[in-house]
Amino acid sequence: MIDLNRARSYFDLNKGIVYLNHASHGPLPLSARKAYDDFLDSWQKTEHDHDVESFRIIGELRGKLAGMIGADSRRLGLSYNTTSGLSIIAGGYPWKKGDNIILSDGEFPACVYPWVSLKRIGVEIRFAPTDDGFINEDSILALVDKNTRVISLSWVQFDNGYRTDLKKLGGFCRSEDILLCVDGIQGMGVVPLNVPENNIDLFTSGCAKWMLGPCGTGFFYLSEQAEEKLRPINIGWLSVDWNDDFTDLLKYDLPERKGPSKYEYGTYAYQDIRALNASVDLHLSFDRASVWDYVRSLTGMIIDKIESDDRFELKSSKKESRRSGIVAFRSKGAKPLYEYLRGKKFIVSFREGNIRVSPYFYNTPDEIENFIRALDNYK
Ligand SMILES: Cc1ncc(COP(=O)(O)O)c(C=O)c1O
Repeated sequence: MIDLNRARSYFDLNKGIVYLNHASHGPLPLSARKAYDDFLDSWQKTEHDHDVESFRIIGELRGKLAGMIGADSRRLGLSYNTTSGLSIIAGGYPWKKGDNIILSDGEFPACVYPWVSLKRIGVEIRFAPTDDGFINEDSILALVDKNTRVISLSWVQFDNGYRTDLKKLGGFCRSEDILLCVDGIQGMGVVPLNVPENNIDLFTSGCAKWMLGPCGTGFFYLSEQAEEKLRPINIGWLSVDWNDDFTDLLKYDLPERKGPSKYEYGTYAYQDIRALNASVDLHLSFDRASVWDYVRSLTGMIIDKIESDDRFELKSSKKESRRSGIVAFRSKGAKPLYEYLRGKKFIVSFREGNIRVSPYFYNTPDEIENFIRALDNYK
């Protein structure tokens, strides 16, 4: 069970607004705001040299994020967004002319452009067709041949919330020595996932949506198998181990750290990392399975309403294994419906012709009932 009073106490929610748009952007918790304030205060007042404390927090944060995906902290690197993780493979894989990469044709562009840029060196990009917007793992596997090096796709689709069967793809990719790269941003924080168990090679996520972190924060998991294949890109002075001692900097022969943290190559956005650390602490203070159950109960209320009203068409899957925190639906004029809902202060998105609703663990059943009432009253 979620303690809603506690959950809501983390946010300074505008009373007139019902925010159901976490697939776009999560609100910054008060505790993250405080972490900014504390850091900026001590920075401005030159009260202390923060390096040692910041590096301690960075180490801890890797461990906490790794724990959320069932991984070892040594397999985790901090980054800036989802794309930065994909770029490590796109830029670092030893591509040969004629290699191919398989994507789906319903992807958010962040999951496409890092790969498309490889066409200029002779890498072929193959798009597997979606079924009515749903990823089809069999269509993806049907495009594989002996030159396939990477399959890359979102765990949860941005427009309809459809959840990919990562286990099926991961097992196949590991057995065929293909890298499975997963954009995790639309599931990370809301749907539990064990990344190593699914044989994922790269799992990358920005933290400004369901993770409730600042814009410009993110992380990625990289499997050992993938790391061994890569030519490291963007290596810098913070890719090596200084053991928190920055007094003797003219050493140019320090070995690169092993593991993804070697891609953290220069000065960190310390203030953002402190805030993200507070957001992650908030996540860890709630039972992850209960958060997921609760979000599912809220999206279930919306699905039931859409299914029972023939003015609306559900564009998300009802199948348990395919659900996420996103529900998408249509009406005849979806744009006017979207504007009507925004006018009533329900903050949702309009994506690819769908109304996209994405509630979270601090939304109340009353808020969802009010949303349903607004749909009832739509003329
Ligand atoms: C599926 C998906 N991937 C990636 C992104 C964003 O990518 P990045 O974090 O690199 O800006 C979004 C949304 O903004 C998204 O919905």
